[in-house]
Formats: sequence, C-alpha cells, structure tokens
Amino acid sequence: MKDDIGEVLFSEAEIKNRVSVIAQKLVVDYKHKNLTIIGVLNGSLVFLSDLIRQMPLPVKLDTIRANTYPGTSTTAAAETEIVHNINVNVKNEHVLIVDDILDTGKTLSEVIRLLSEYNPLSIRVCVLLNKRARREREIEPDYCCFEIEDKFVVGYGLDFDNRYRNLPFVAILKDGITIASKTI
Ligand code: XMP
Repeated sequence: MKDDIGEVLFSEAEIKNRVSVIAQKLVVDYKHKNLTIIGVLNGSLVFLSDLIRQMPLPVKLDTIRANTYPGTSTTAAAETEIVHNINVNVKNEHVLIVDDILDTGKTLSEVIRLLSEYNPLSIRVCVLLNKRARREREIEPDYCCFEIEDKFVVGYGLDFDNRYRNLPFVAILKDGITIASKTI
C-alpha cells in the first residue's frame, strides 16, 4: 500500500498534535453544556475516535451517513441523500458534527439542514481538513485541523474507492493508481 502513496501532507505526529489542540478548544467551549457529537460516516471514523478520546466530557455520540453524488452546482437538494439517520434526540442538545473534510460543502450543508429540523440548541461543524478551493455551498467549519489545497487526499479516514482509510497520515496518491477500474 505504501508504494501507492505520494507526498505526505500531514504526518501522524502532526495530526496527533492538531487533534489534541482542537479537542482542548472543544472541551473549553462545551464544558457544562449538553453535547451530542455526530460523526459523518465513513470518512470521520478515525478522526472522530481520536478526537472524542481526548475530550473528557460526558458527550453523547451518534453517526449519520450521506451519499453525495457528483452533479451540477445548481441542483443542490437532489445531490445529497441521507442514507442512515441519527437515533439520539438532539432537541435540548448542542450538536457538533464531525467529518473528515469540508470540500464542496454539499454533504455537510445537507446534514446541517436535516439536523436543524430536530431543533437542537446549536449546530457547529468540526473537520479534519478544509478544502476551500472547491466550495459550492456557503459553509465554513467552526473547528478545523488543517487547510488543504485542491488535491485529492487519502489516509486517516479518507479513502480512494474505500481503501487507504487506515493509513495513519494524510497523503496524496501517486498519479495513475488504479483500483476496480478507477484511475486517479
Ligand atoms: P463534500 O464537501 O464535497 O464532501 O460534500 C463529501 C465527501 O467527499 C469525500 N471527499 C474526499 N475524500 N479525499 C477523499 O478521500 C478527498 O480529497 C476528498 N474530498 C471530498 C469526503 O468523504 C467528504 O466527506
């Protein structure tokens, strides 16, 4: 697997440091508040599990899954479909959505729209990576570990064709990698 990896953008140690900094901020901001953390599957899994273990708060935890299909920027609503919804009641809770990357913003915009319907006390977004260059929705993360340029990255939860999520760092794949007939 390591032969497929090009430039490492964020090493395991760098990620560990940043996750710890963000976790400490969250602990300050959410101390004495009812907090429900909602991870967006599957990409948030690694980040989420490291983040919450550095937050000594009595948080509730749940997950949501959305499929976002490539499409035109003018047909927003139909492009993202929630395929697994939360089970917790968030009515009197502050909600923190955790995801791997804020890219076009389609996924998180739709997740926020859906969760707003349950009338939580607040909704904020925490992402590992922020890729501003490709944004198609008006959305910015409240908490972010790293800004990245317009490059397709894998590792630490991020995948190419569902592989590479278990890499402990974030990296760019080498050109020409082919999996199940997809070529990057
Ligand atoms: P947006 O913000 O475009 O992001 O709705 C939707 C999902 O797309 C995935 N994504 C990536 N996955 N490398 C990846 O492995 C990337 O560079 C990348 N950009 C977007 C990611 O799962 C995100 O939640």
